[in-house]
Amino acid sequence: MDSIRIRGGVALQGNVCIQGSKNAALPILAATLLTGDSSLLKNCPRIADVYAMVSLLKSLGCTVNWQENGIEVDSSRVRRGKMQSEAVKGMRSSLCLLGALLGRCSEVAMEHPGGCCIGARPIDLHIYALEQMGVDFWCEDGMLRATADRLHGAGIVLPKPSVGATENVILAGVCAEGDTILEGAAREPEITALCGYLKCCGAWIEGAGTERIVIRGGRSLYGTEFTIPADRIVAGTYLLACMGTGGSIFLERAPREEMGAVLEVAERMGGHFCSSDEGIYVQGPVRPRAVSRIETAPYPGFPTDLQSMALAVETLGEGESLIEETIFENRFRVVEEFRRMGACIEQVGERSVLVRGVSSLRGADVDAKELRGGAALVIGGLMAQGKTNVTGCPFIYRGYENICRDFRELGARIISV
Ligand code: EPZ
Repeated sequence: MDSIRIRGGVALQGNVCIQGSKNAALPILAATLLTGDSSLLKNCPRIADVYAMVSLLKSLGCTVNWQENGIEVDSSRVRRGKMQSEAVKGMRSSLCLLGALLGRCSEVAMEHPGGCCIGARPIDLHIYALEQMGVDFWCEDGMLRATADRLHGAGIVLPKPSVGATENVILAGVCAEGDTILEGAAREPEITALCGYLKCCGAWIEGAGTERIVIRGGRSLYGTEFTIPADRIVAGTYLLACMGTGGSIFLERAPREEMGAVLEVAERMGGHFCSSDEGIYVQGPVRPRAVSRIETAPYPGFPTDLQSMALAVETLGEGESLIEETIFENRFRVVEEFRRMGACIEQVGERSVLVRGVSSLRGADVDAKELRGGAALVIGGLMAQGKTNVTGCPFIYRGYENICRDFRELGARIISV
């Protein structure tokens, strides 16, 4: 099932239920290590990145059981000794285990998380922050090792917002002695969800979702039942797909309060919306308008994870659109693939492209090189006339439970093969 086949040109119609959030589920799964108890996480998405995290938790001694409405994780049998020499493999996609392991077991060994297709993905901010909490880092045999004989609270100022570094400080801070005050924290909803889970477990945290978070350490934590919120990036993916194909869809459970920037851009594309706590009703334009400038930014700005999808829509825009990527250094890998479909895209800066809308895209064979770019190519295939074959789809399955099923429910002619 490495490819997706699409016969495009159909306006999307129908209702789709939005899955649980990948980027909320991953740090919350890591946080279950801190309780030494059992937690039930409802609405946990069944995606490859979650399966990878689950296998890491099992390798650390957790018992994990999938249930119909979620996943139960019991971390009572995680043992310090098990951590001493255990190199936690595959950590790059689960860097948030770093803070949780330091909080629970005071030490960790992991592959040095390298870069990926979209950028170098450094971890200097994680190290800078955790060192101030008493963590010692060193490299040994190609592994990154860390110990914290006495994890203590600190006053930390992050020079720029980092979702992962903010999560690691929170995960370590709930177990540290004393208070941690984090300034310059990331404000993404996934941080708020993580803090929501930890507060249900008995943690004391204030300021989640703001640039200043205070964590009171040293409180014992217990298991709980928690519902993973809906995935704002998956909802935004389907919303932008409707902007590109036209039609009208209902995004059940879409977290409208977290999607302000996306809705603002989609409205400028010519979309119309009606939203409630149930979800968002979306009416797409016959042809998208060109949005003169779309710039990604940390939350609550336009999310970098939806940049490729907005680019896809603007390939058919009525006019020119400048798209600027300010978060990651290499997030235009899809440009070459869209050109194969007849798009007119010019790289005009190190991190910006100018899209000149064309009247139609033609189906083509295209290759997904990373998660969100792959989803954007699927949108391109839905918008194009004729057949599109998207390869490299395991990247897409890292973050989307079943993108083909979801789009079929919206009337698309799409199958995975
Ligand atoms: C999280 O990645 C998300 N991943 C990403 O989603 C998302 O794009 C990103 O936040 C930004 O919103 C998960 O939550 C699992 P960052 P993260 O630390 O935490 C630089 C997806 O598609 N930086 O906020 O790795 C970094 O290079 C993924 O679901 C440092 O310089 O992102 C980037 O330029 C892709 N040093 C910027 O900060 C560091 O130590 C933001 O990165 C850490 C980050």
